[in-house]
Amino acid sequence: MLADGNACCLFGAGNHNSQMVSHLAGTDREMKGDQVMSTDIGIDLGTASILVYIKGKGVVLKEPSVVAFDRDTNKIKAIGEEARLMLGRTPGNIVAVRPLRQGVISDYTVTEKMLKYFIQKAMGKKSFRKPRISVCVPSGVTEVEKKAVEDATYQAGAREVSIIEEPIAAAIGAGVDISKPCGNMIVDIGGGTADIAVISLGGTVVSTSIKIAGDDFDEAIVRYMRKKHNLLIGERTAEDIKIKIGTCFPLAQNDTMDVRGRNLVTGLPKTVSVSSEETEEALREATLQIVEAVHSVLEKTPPELAADVADRGIILTGGGALLRGLEELIEDRTGINTMTAEEPMTCVAIGTGKYVEFLSGKSGKLED
Ligand SMILES: Nc1ncnc2c1ncn2[C@@H]1O[C@H](COP(=O)(O)OP(=O)(O)OP(=O)(O)O)[C@@H](O)[C@H]1O
Ligand SMILES: [Mg+2]
Repeated sequence: MLADGNACCLFGAGNHNSQMVSHLAGTDREMKGDQVMSTDIGIDLGTASILVYIKGKGVVLKEPSVVAFDRDTNKIKAIGEEARLMLGRTPGNIVAVRPLRQGVISDYTVTEKMLKYFIQKAMGKKSFRKPRISVCVPSGVTEVEKKAVEDATYQAGAREVSIIEEPIAAAIGAGVDISKPCGNMIVDIGGGTADIAVISLGGTVVSTSIKIAGDDFDEAIVRYMRKKHNLLIGERTAEDIKIKIGTCFPLAQNDTMDVRGRNLVTGLPKTVSVSSEETEEALREATLQIVEAVHSVLEKTPPELAADVADRGIILTGGGALLRGLEELIEDRTGINTMTAEEPMTCVAIGTGKYVEFLSGKSGKLED
């Protein structure tokens, strides 16, 4: 299941060098120009949700990455929260889709329209100057898809665009000073992918990405309910169970919850009481795959950096990191202190927005 762990040199990841050069040049221009008017925007283009961060304002928009469109005319009917409410409830000709599900851009045109819509919504009508926008894309996207996102962002009105890797953005958002020659391990668990990376000197040293994250936890609960209780439930109900009582580590507290679904034997509605203990069993396989990926990255980490990680601990980010017991499970299996970032769901958006500052090196410290 594991994608190849890709080791790369500091700052040597892909086209970062050229990006850095162009940004530094941009900063030079700006120093002479009207720096005051410029806006920095960070967009977390996630598989489950899209967040927009504006420097000085914080996270101004958070909506599900869902688009509803008319199959006959190909016209978009709704985007974001409005479209999410249509998922699974649309008449034949209208389809609600998640164009980024599983960390790949399954529908480029729809993604482009969605991105433009959110940028315009977040910026409002009146803006003095074109903003600098950095976009964090799911780690599985290809170079071609990255380029497509970049083009769409330019078309939406950006003056400068940079595309960022999720673990770097997550680290900045979690408050890690990534410019130091010191190893930090970030485990970002989103909806579609879990990204595990050891970062030092502003670059990824070792990383891996697996397509096991929040959505798979929901699917595992759906499967468990079907097998153990003969009960058919939808993904939204499964997510509800996960958020309310779900755990992946045996905890002292064992909550229960009544779950409604369809009895697979009689075909009639049925209510079953589910416990946290049962969710632990349901989520075991998926969460252990994440632990295994953490292991594999630790194994490939150079000894000095591994020692830093052991000292400083592992940082969890992303909405999936909110699953109860995850810290305990990773800590138990690796022996390394594990903690969740303060605002795991907004980390990446904040870090993406601040990345522009990091690149331009205006200030040693990253501030709001
Ligand atoms: N309290 C919670 N407990 C467990 N899981 C949660 C909680 N809140 C949100 N989640 C899960 O977090 C996931 C979404 O996280 P996030 O918004 O970070 O994903 P994303 O950034 O859109 O995805 P990706 O990073 O894979 O592109 C969903 O699977 C959601 O069910
Ligand atoms: Mg994410």
